[in-house]
Amino acid sequence: MNAATTTLGEARFDSPCHGAVSDHARVPARLIHDPAAPPEPDLWFELAGPRAKLFFDPRQTRAGIVTCGGLSPGLNNVIRSLFLELHHRYGIQQVLGFREGYQGLDPASGLDPLVLTAELVDDIHREGGTLLGTSRGPVHIPAAVDNLVRLKVDILFTIGGDGTQRGGRELFEEARRHGHPLAVVGVPKTIDNDIPYVSRTFGFLTAVEQAAGVLACAHTECHSVHNGISLVKLMGREAGFIAAGAAIASQDVNFVLIPEVPFKLEGEGGFLAALKKRLLKRRHALIVVAEGAGQHLLDSHDERDPSGNLKLRDIGLYLRQQIESYFKAEKIPIVFRYFDPSYLIRSVAADAEDAILCDAFARNAAHAAMAGRTGVIIGLVHDQFVHVPIELLAGQHKRLNQDGMLWRSVLAATGQPALFE
Ligand code: F6P
Repeated sequence: MNAATTTLGEARFDSPCHGAVSDHARVPARLIHDPAAPPEPDLWFELAGPRAKLFFDPRQTRAGIVTCGGLSPGLNNVIRSLFLELHHRYGIQQVLGFREGYQGLDPASGLDPLVLTAELVDDIHREGGTLLGTSRGPVHIPAAVDNLVRLKVDILFTIGGDGTQRGGRELFEEARRHGHPLAVVGVPKTIDNDIPYVSRTFGFLTAVEQAAGVLACAHTECHSVHNGISLVKLMGREAGFIAAGAAIASQDVNFVLIPEVPFKLEGEGGFLAALKKRLLKRRHALIVVAEGAGQHLLDSHDERDPSGNLKLRDIGLYLRQQIESYFKAEKIPIVFRYFDPSYLIRSVAADAEDAILCDAFARNAAHAAMAGRTGVIIGLVHDQFVHVPIELLAGQHKRLNQDGMLWRSVLAATGQPALFE
């Protein structure tokens, strides 16, 4: 089955791009076909890339860019490459940068958009953060669409997570009701790397690199003293990709706790007993916990952030307190070091791998929009950039598979049991 991509209308204008991609080229969502596995419908995505014909006449086209949600290394690279592709390759009339996330689309915020220029974006990719500013929180759809119509914006690039992209789809639908052909094309962003049909979101690898640096320091600390325990809490709200990636890169980690794998603290098969065994044998231990892990051990509540995410309880501090009291009760003196690098792993500039990825996401987003695709994000499957209709993200979550290669590598590198139960 082909994923149905929405196109605003007939593409009538010649494209300045060389090497156009066929509109019929498709990439399968699943690469491996296992006849022994339960049958699943096949899903094929449209291949991203420049088209021979454009829906928008570049000379008459105005685009806007908005960055939403938490920071991710590479936001400025995406803004810069989007601008340069639209300006130099397509020669479009103007690119506006909406400020401070979705609230900048609403004139009531008083945040006038920036008019982007080559000078303005020249060296922004050397810095972390976003030139445009960002915020969490939904977009006021009617006000935003009225504003986009008033400003004659034909294309909006939404750089953000799945909530941002759902907002993007609503914008396009509301614009359609107004008879305004608005192309909304999303660039998926989160250091957590948990967006379906995107094998790697930009900023993830840079965050892993930063996290691995912290693990090296944490290892040195616990290894340099008798019965040293270092505990490192890393970001990862609902998925443990950062914790797993950093632990495998480090090869010094002894325990990795992630949201996908619930664990028990107490009892013979629990985490604390395993930690004691390790400490008695090797005299030091390095633990990594993803911030979303072990929430079942903490008070339940329903407090949410402006993006609608459940506010997490602090598993790092809880584990610290549990470990310290456990070893006190066991009368085993320990030297405990706690590391919470928190935002340090995501506020830096993109590394080379992410810079390359940002450039490709951005240029493919520009091509999709100019060809009139709307209500899509740029996905990445089997190293191919594709158009993923936003509605396919609804109710889907990319999570670390406990039976997959990544978790197997974590278990092999740490030597920890598959489960603490
Ligand atoms: O989703 C990305 C992320 O960095 C998570 O890992 C983290 O839980 C969250 O954002 C924190 O965001 P903020 O504190 O900026 O709202």
